[in-house]
Amino acid sequence: MFKWGLRKTEKPHDAVERLEGNLPRHVAIIMDGNGRWAERRGLPRFVGHRAGMKTVREIIRAAREIGIEVLTLYAFSTENWKRPREEVDFLMRLPQEYLLTDLPELIENNVRVCVLGDVNGLPRHTLEAVERAMRETAHNTGMVVNFALNYGSRAEITHAVRRIAEEVKAGRLDPADIDENRVAAALFTADLPDPDLLIRTSGELRISNFLLWQIAYTELWFTEVCWPDFTVAHFHEALRDYQSRTRRYGAVKP
Ligand code: IPE
Ligand code: IPE
Ligand code: MG
Repeated sequence: MFKWGLRKTEKPHDAVERLEGNLPRHVAIIMDGNGRWAERRGLPRFVGHRAGMKTVREIIRAAREIGIEVLTLYAFSTENWKRPREEVDFLMRLPQEYLLTDLPELIENNVRVCVLGDVNGLPRHTLEAVERAMRETAHNTGMVVNFALNYGSRAEITHAVRRIAEEVKAGRLDPADIDENRVAAALFTADLPDPDLLIRTSGELRISNFLLWQIAYTELWFTEVCWPDFTVAHFHEALRDYQSRTRRYGAVKP
């Protein structure tokens, strides 16, 4: 039996009912530890990335079943280009591999696919795959899945500052009118609520340039488990933990 009482024989459906109330609207995940998962098994790192793709599939399904509105998955950072060429090439092929098999299921389940990051910096084949997924799910009204691809929070904020400065230069915006809403509206996440819960796998206790502005009041949850070993049960554990937290936003609890 798991810690919170779900027996392995119970259907995921039963677990969903037990998670009702005070659920996060937006969950963001730093999917980390694919490489170490493989290395510990004496396997090349790419095997870990492929195994991680299965976890992506399972967690998207689980999040949808639970009723999460937005799921943001950190898939490739602006710093990940520093990795060996073969690893980068492999990672850039994963989105199309995933979408080739799973896009029909996402469409059927009313999921909307979005991408956060500098898409123009992606190889053409990656860009085409994600653009097709975005196009074919654009009118879906169910869960939003954001793939953070070539995403870096500092680059995002820098880009937002540049856009705002251009508005000022063109005489369309008074600097006195630049407030937090204006900044938030210039980010890639303009149309999304801030994450309520951020999960990071693999035991690293850092943010690695992910959603720095947006996580100002996000609840953080870390696990030692590497992403390929992260299961729906772990996901539920994180959600249960979230449900027990008190969010104060700097105020005093009533
Ligand atoms: C996460 O796993 C996937 C990406 C960053 C693309 P890693 O590849 O970072 O795995 P570790 O952290 O080296 O184990
Ligand atoms: C963060 O993981 C990026 C993704 C999960 C895509 P990294 O593995 O790149 O982060 P660091 O290098 O350990 O900080
Ligand atoms: Mg890592």
